[in-house]
Amino acid sequence: MQDDEMKISIIGTGYVGLTTGVGFAVKGNDVLCVDIDAAKVETINSGVSPIYEPLLDDYLKKVLKQKKFRATIDLSDAVNRSEASFISVGTPSGKDGKIDLRFIEEVSKQIGQVLKDKKDYHVVVVKSTVVPETTEKVVVENVESASCKKAGEDFGVCMNPEFLREGKAMEDFLTPDRIVIGSIDKRSGDVIEKLYSNFKASILRTDVKTAEMIKYASNAFLATKISFTNEIGNICKRLCIDVNEVMKGVGMDSRISPHFLNAGCGYGGSCFPKDVEALIWKAKETGYEPRLLDEVHELNNRQKVVLVDQLEKRIGKLKGKNICLLGLAFKPDSDDIREASSISIISKLIEKGAKVKAYDPKAMENMEKLFPNIQYVSNAKEALAGSDACLIVTEWDEFRKLEDKDFDAMRNRIIIEGRRILDKAKVSKFDGICW
Ligand code: UDX
Repeated sequence: MQDDEMKISIIGTGYVGLTTGVGFAVKGNDVLCVDIDAAKVETINSGVSPIYEPLLDDYLKKVLKQKKFRATIDLSDAVNRSEASFISVGTPSGKDGKIDLRFIEEVSKQIGQVLKDKKDYHVVVVKSTVVPETTEKVVVENVESASCKKAGEDFGVCMNPEFLREGKAMEDFLTPDRIVIGSIDKRSGDVIEKLYSNFKASILRTDVKTAEMIKYASNAFLATKISFTNEIGNICKRLCIDVNEVMKGVGMDSRISPHFLNAGCGYGGSCFPKDVEALIWKAKETGYEPRLLDEVHELNNRQKVVLVDQLEKRIGKLKGKNICLLGLAFKPDSDDIREASSISIISKLIEKGAKVKAYDPKAMENMEKLFPNIQYVSNAKEALAGSDACLIVTEWDEFRKLEDKDFDAMRNRIIIEGRRILDKAKVSKFDGICW
């Protein structure tokens, strides 16, 4: 091992944990990834990622072959063999959007029990997205009480948020915009900064509470940009102005940037909705009413079903109508349907008595678990055939290739676009949600 290479363990092999583990191994470190699910551990060790994430399988196979990476169910062994443990377990939404910290608590206790008998200095790093104060109040307290040791004296603690986009997680991990390291003291932060020494990115050192907040503020700001754009889009639609042209002009201002200014049928995924809600909950806990964030969240919920309202305006009652949905995943190149706009759209269509036919290149299996009674077909053309209307919900590249003749098989040619994916040069008549 070279001087700057470290032995680390990652607890939790979700998309963040596995990407982080494989990524650190690619960077030359020895990594042990821990999960309680033995079948998942076996799958990972056979070189197959349990989640669909571009490049992850290739890198996983590579680091397994180099013996730089291994998955295990043995947390105690992994913590003992490593210098730092990254907590990367889920933080789901509980009641009223409150963050559910059960898994964080449990893992902190387990790490603490191992540290009780471990002689070498060890750094506990929180990678999971947790609301401000969690690292100090939940992680430190649980590790201290289980280990009978003192944070800052006997072991180190850091908070190192992730900024990984699904579908681009490996790329985002290996070439990040910035690295944020919050630490309870200099020594713990130095250990983690060393781990990132061969990354080409600015490193921001801060305290743990600030690091926790940076993650929420970043996601809340991006969500706000989207809801803001959708609001402008809804106004533009009423004035027959193309919001995309508007935001192109707006994004040319370097203070604003052109990113995350795409209007559409709302944001979904495992982060934005949950993180905005958790921040709202935390703000209210402090006695502050976060009116802007409340509205960002509400506007997004409304935006998800605008397509159905527009459809109703076009064709009247939806009862008995054959509606085809192109795209189910919350974004392209993903099979993830968590908080996807398609879920709200399908629910509303079913509620109104429509017959739903859907196609998505990757997410149909997941959606079938949620809506077993709608029809799933194996391509866009099949979905369009015989439909009274078509709603486009996810911007899959393959929908860009659709041409006029593909829509000829529809019973009624009513196309409403939620993501601006159709090519105007190839498809002659369609409506846009905000344009
Ligand atoms: C996001 C953040 O980008 C990432 O930094 C964080 O760590 C996790 O949350 P992700 O959920 O993978 O990543 O998705 P992202 O690509 O950011 O898109 C989120 C949602 O916003 C998608 O539903 C997308 O369609 C929507 N979106 C995005 C818009 O509606 N308009 C935009 O301009 C951009």
